[in-house]
Amino acid sequence: MTMGEKLAVVTGYFGIQKPWNAYRFPEARPQSAGVVLGVPRLGFTPQWQTDAGSGVATQGEAPPELERTLLPSGILTASTWDPAVAERGGAMIGSEARASGFNVMLAGGVNLLREPGNGRNFEYGGEDPLLAGTMVGALVRGIQSNHIVATVKHFALNDQETARRSVNVIIDEAAARTSDLLAFELAIEAGDPGSVMCSYNLVNGVHACQNDWLLNQVLKRDWGFRGYVMADWGAQHDTVLDANHGLDQETGVFQQGGYQFLDKLEAAIRRGEVSAARLDDMAQRIARALIAKGAVDDPVTPGPIDFSAHAAVAQADAEAGIVLLKNAGVLPLGAAVKSVVVIGGHADQGVLTGGGSAQVYAPGGNAVRGLGPPGWPGPHVYARSSPLEALGHELPKTALAFADGTEREAAAKAASKADVAIVFATQWTAESLDFPLTLPADQDALIDAVARANRRTVVVLETGGPVLMPWLERVSAVVEAWYPGGRGGPAIARVLSGAVNPSGHLPVSFPRALAQLPRAKIEGVGATPDIVFDVRYDEGAAVGYRWYDKQHAEPLFPFGHGLSYTTFARSDLSAKLENGELHVHFRVKNSGRRAGGDVAQVYVSPVAGGWESPKHLAAFAKTELAPGASHDVDLTLEPRLFSQWDAARTSFHVAGGKYRVALASSARDPGQSVTVTLAERLLPAGAGAKPHAP
Ligand code: BGC
Repeated sequence: MTMGEKLAVVTGYFGIQKPWNAYRFPEARPQSAGVVLGVPRLGFTPQWQTDAGSGVATQGEAPPELERTLLPSGILTASTWDPAVAERGGAMIGSEARASGFNVMLAGGVNLLREPGNGRNFEYGGEDPLLAGTMVGALVRGIQSNHIVATVKHFALNDQETARRSVNVIIDEAAARTSDLLAFELAIEAGDPGSVMCSYNLVNGVHACQNDWLLNQVLKRDWGFRGYVMADWGAQHDTVLDANHGLDQETGVFQQGGYQFLDKLEAAIRRGEVSAARLDDMAQRIARALIAKGAVDDPVTPGPIDFSAHAAVAQADAEAGIVLLKNAGVLPLGAAVKSVVVIGGHADQGVLTGGGSAQVYAPGGNAVRGLGPPGWPGPHVYARSSPLEALGHELPKTALAFADGTEREAAAKAASKADVAIVFATQWTAESLDFPLTLPADQDALIDAVARANRRTVVVLETGGPVLMPWLERVSAVVEAWYPGGRGGPAIARVLSGAVNPSGHLPVSFPRALAQLPRAKIEGVGATPDIVFDVRYDEGAAVGYRWYDKQHAEPLFPFGHGLSYTTFARSDLSAKLENGELHVHFRVKNSGRRAGGDVAQVYVSPVAGGWESPKHLAAFAKTELAPGASHDVDLTLEPRLFSQWDAARTSFHVAGGKYRVALASSARDPGQSVTVTLAERLLPAGAGAKPHAP
């Protein structure tokens, strides 16, 4: 490549073509996130970039020809605890990216859920590094099976959206390595993404996209990452610092932010402030990733999409991830239920989706118009998949009524006349905003009024993350459906009717009250743009259940919790060391009368204590079982989850001594346990990385 060609491949432009944008790139795919020019002389492809983890997104409302299959949100897929589901979803959305002419997909997001109010929690994989890393890594594998590049993001510690460009996260290195960074490390190992996106925020005083520690030391040196680092849109800040500290590609140029590379980088090289070898490295990383993933030998060409086959993938994901939180016997809705009133949540029209750059317009477009902010990241978009209509198919003999919930009294009256009332409660969340944990628009009062009128009240939540439930004691059942995707209606209806036995488990703890959280409120509200302010992560690596354990606090619903219509019995737990690996063995039996999926969780804790919190999830397995069937499960525990970080030796360190290994069904379930004695061991950074391809 000539200097000009190298400079071309390290600069990405905003993809959207609008008349107000003086810099239009006809090469960009319509309404897309970005484009990087190719090198025609060498037959090197342009890079066509699209968001994101739930499917092929559009910037702004999609015309019918740009509507695409909508997978459930990332947090729902994490709730499946089944990497095969995530991989199938990734393969499906990646194939639609290809068929839409994209060779770079800006997914998967793996920021750890530290702030339950973060408006992007729906895009991520929850609060635990092992679960999030495993599930997002599987999504990435699926996407890249289409010979395109996936992008693990937003690296790193981008855990709130409020003032996301000026928040400076202060965290101790050991805490970061064993929490948020570990989620990235595991996702990158499992998925081998071509690209990693650095985030808008600052980490320990330095912008993530010019953070030598994050990019050069942790990602590229310690983890051996050979792909390229692209900036979040416009997160480039300084030509010399960005280039020298590890950024390989700037993005969103001319719309989201000014450029730092192009002639500015050329001048910096001429002045000797950036080496010519560094530009070679940037271009080489980009070219290598595109070639290694197959995007050069197998160029993308727009083509047809099998929407009905893809809808089935989205529905299977939703059915595996919807979580039954509470059930006092009202579910599944049996033949004895003669009448049901469905209330609120636009359940007669569709299901809610999350807003921002990840917004996918599912076939049929927005089912409910005119709600929420008219401009980006709004409006509220509902996928055209009505739970009410689907319930009609599931329960053909049941009389169904609908009340939109705007009149509380009318809803309560309708509830009093039905055998069962089902309230659909929604919480829209979106990129660039954070949200209170209280359901908006007085929905708590609506649920309360309905539950007072009919004790057999079921609440179906469509939320981006945890919410508070002041009415919990008064309702009979609660189903967390998250944003369930383009076939959310039938998935919810089939869980309610029992055609599907729920097997989702929470990838996040639900607090009882804000006072239980490390930070009761998100900082930076009303902050002056560009004035950097600190948020101290004093909780360190004690994120989610680790925090509750440490505080001896009982959450409303614990991490890992999820009910079923059948029962499981686990037995014969044993643990053994083999070649330095810790294995567990147990038997799980479906002891009930319906087929169902069990999620076994293995937590490890040092008997002598000494960690930031009592225990870590170190392995998990989902097992589908017919009634009466049993299965022997063998799992290898992830050693970094029974380690602490030793900064002086740049290694994970397993302290010698006794460890309790517990087999449980949630983070609050003591389960059954065995004790093992481990020898001291050092796991150098990058030890988990796969051998490098040439
Ligand atoms: C988001 C990224 C996204 C990019 C391109 C940014 O605002 O933070 O997640 O990939 O825009 O749309």
